[in-house]
Amino acid sequence: DKKITIAIDGFSSTGKSTLAKQLANHLGYAYVDTGAMYRAVTLYAMQEGFVAEDFLNKEGLTDALGDITLQFLYNPELGFAEMYLNEENVERKIRTIEVSSLVSRVAEISAVRAMLVKQQQHMGENKGVVMDGRDIGTVVFPNAELKLFMSASPQTRAERRFKELTDKGDTVTYEEVLHNVQERDYIDTHREDSPLVKAEDAIEIDNSHLGIKEQFDKVLDLVNKAL
Ligand code: C5P
Repeated sequence: DKKITIAIDGFSSTGKSTLAKQLANHLGYAYVDTGAMYRAVTLYAMQEGFVAEDFLNKEGLTDALGDITLQFLYNPELGFAEMYLNEENVERKIRTIEVSSLVSRVAEISAVRAMLVKQQQHMGENKGVVMDGRDIGTVVFPNAELKLFMSASPQTRAERRFKELTDKGDTVTYEEVLHNVQERDYIDTHREDSPLVKAEDAIEIDNSHLGIKEQFDKVLDLVNKAL
């Protein structure tokens, strides 16, 4: 059985992780949510005092990177892996609007990217992996057999993320979520190191008007062609 690497990139809240989890479960592949890693480093920066109001102490955080241990541990009840930061399960803490508002600025730091890209390459070295993020098809696995680039209108994405957050009981406004989605898109596409860009050989999927099932079937066709 040939195993491949599937790279899924795209803008915030385009349903990358939903698709990646479906694919990983269906194929028996590992799923790696690289956004969770950037979010965990961001949470660390907040907890360790590298953030004060609008100021992010990039040098301080860079010097402390060696103290950060990240792990994905599979939770059989949920059917996917959860993010651990220095042995603590932070799956919930990394999904807050506070972390979402800061993460793209942490992700601009080259030393952070270098550290996480290295770990991601290690996790995928034996193939049989579905990885989602912003630079998977361009930087982490430029030779991935299948690259997808996901998009949807900002309004569609904000509505989905808003529903996700309020369903969990978070108190956020739709405007706040829309603003966050647009701001992250801007920073992610304009940063100097590994900006979000569609790889030349990636297949674009706009799911503004595509149901989850339809999308999955469409992508499975692509997977079977790549296998
Ligand atoms: O995927 P998610 O929305 O959780 O990612 C959070 C943020 O982490 C992104 O907005 C981006 O700034 C950063 N990120 C990145 N490269 C990746 C994955 C995420 O820069 N491969």
